[in-house]
Amino acid sequence: MEKQDKTALVTGITGQDGGYLAELLLDKNYKVYGMHRRGSTDGHSGRINHLKGKLELVCGELTDIGSLSKIIKQIKPDEVYNLAAQSHVGISFSQKHYTNEVNWLGVERLIDCIKEEAPNAKLYQASTSELFGEVLESPQSEKTPFNPVSPYATAKLKAHNAIKRERENGMFCCSGILFNHESPRRGLEFVTRKFTDGIARIKLGIPQRETGKNYLEMGNLEARRDWGHSRDYVEAMWKMLQQDSPSDYVIATGETHSVREFIEAAADVAGIKINWQGQGVEEKGYDQSGNKIIAINPKFFRPNEVNFLIGDATKAKRELGWEPKVRFKELVEEMVQADLEKLKGK
Ligand code: NAP
Ligand code: GDD
Repeated sequence: MEKQDKTALVTGITGQDGGYLAELLLDKNYKVYGMHRRGSTDGHSGRINHLKGKLELVCGELTDIGSLSKIIKQIKPDEVYNLAAQSHVGISFSQKHYTNEVNWLGVERLIDCIKEEAPNAKLYQASTSELFGEVLESPQSEKTPFNPVSPYATAKLKAHNAIKRERENGMFCCSGILFNHESPRRGLEFVTRKFTDGIARIKLGIPQRETGKNYLEMGNLEARRDWGHSRDYVEAMWKMLQQDSPSDYVIATGETHSVREFIEAAADVAGIKINWQGQGVEEKGYDQSGNKIIAINPKFFRPNEVNFLIGDATKAKRELGWEPKVRFKELVEEMVQADLEKLKGK
């Protein structure tokens, strides 16, 4: 077999970004190790089934320093991509201690293990546009002050600061301040995929996944996000670790849309025009035949909300030569079509 050029460890391999990043690294002839955690269900996330035999899976936990130390000692990676996290902002409000353990202290553990067992390894940390929180300027760039409003974001900010601290102490480590990125592999509990799966079910006459109802229950429709494609964003992660010196980068499309706009665009791809009626929690969305297809359920509201995000990725363009390839309309189209395909015949 051809000798592989570099060795990479990807934590969070079973997540949305893990699979796309592994594909990219394998294409570049890396030896790829993916860290997954033990689960009670059979096998791993379907997201990496197609990579069986190409990447090596190792079992570890960000909350368990012993497992991290052993893995890094065994692999001696050239590059570590830390994608593992409790990544759901809404859930972080009810699981703030766990979120802190994984999203902050997990990163501190990983740093310590790398320093001990593979001190020359470069580290990528999955930072986030959630750090901007209640935004203090728009668009948000690397210079925009952080103002986090969720337990998820406060934990990620502590990790972000840890990366900065280690960089100042000589470690090659970067934080990618990534804005929301989606794909047909996005988890079903995030708003884009929840809706593309939901509208595909409505189109095909299949009950909703969690409620069994024939309409979707959504939260705040007015929040705005800068949505890109995961495949584009993992390329930026890799590029950060190929620079001569490490730095932090904002990765974004520079376009912002509300949740309502995403919903209308996705319904449109499925051939459904939404007629909105009512206000606030009483608002409903109906299809052309007058069937209720959307209702508001306050259980999806968050105690604190990030209302508006739009990123300025000028530095990434200038220094990494990175630009997003997939734009909003194409992203929505790909996600809805993929869910329609998946659900046909069910
Ligand atoms: P995701 O789909 O939720 O995947 C998270 C991954 O982390 C999964 O593989 C999960 O394993 C693993 N994980 C969770 N807790 C762990 C623990 N204690 N120990 C080891 N592994 C653990 O997230 P994603 O969308 O791919 O995002 C990747 C990273 O980027 C995350 O850190 C996220 O916070 C950050 N981020 C994401 C976005 C975005 O829009 N997608 C934007 C900015 C930053 P299981 O499969 O076993 O649960
Ligand atoms: N999840 C969800 N479910 N969100 C809803 C719903 C719903 O039914 N209805 C409205 N929303 C709103 C949320 O209140 C939020 O304002 C917006 O849709 C986006 O929510 P998510 O898709 O859950 O993503 P997020 O922006 O909170 O967090 C994602 O992006 C961050 C980067 O900014 C995650 O991927 C984080 O891990 C990531 O750091």
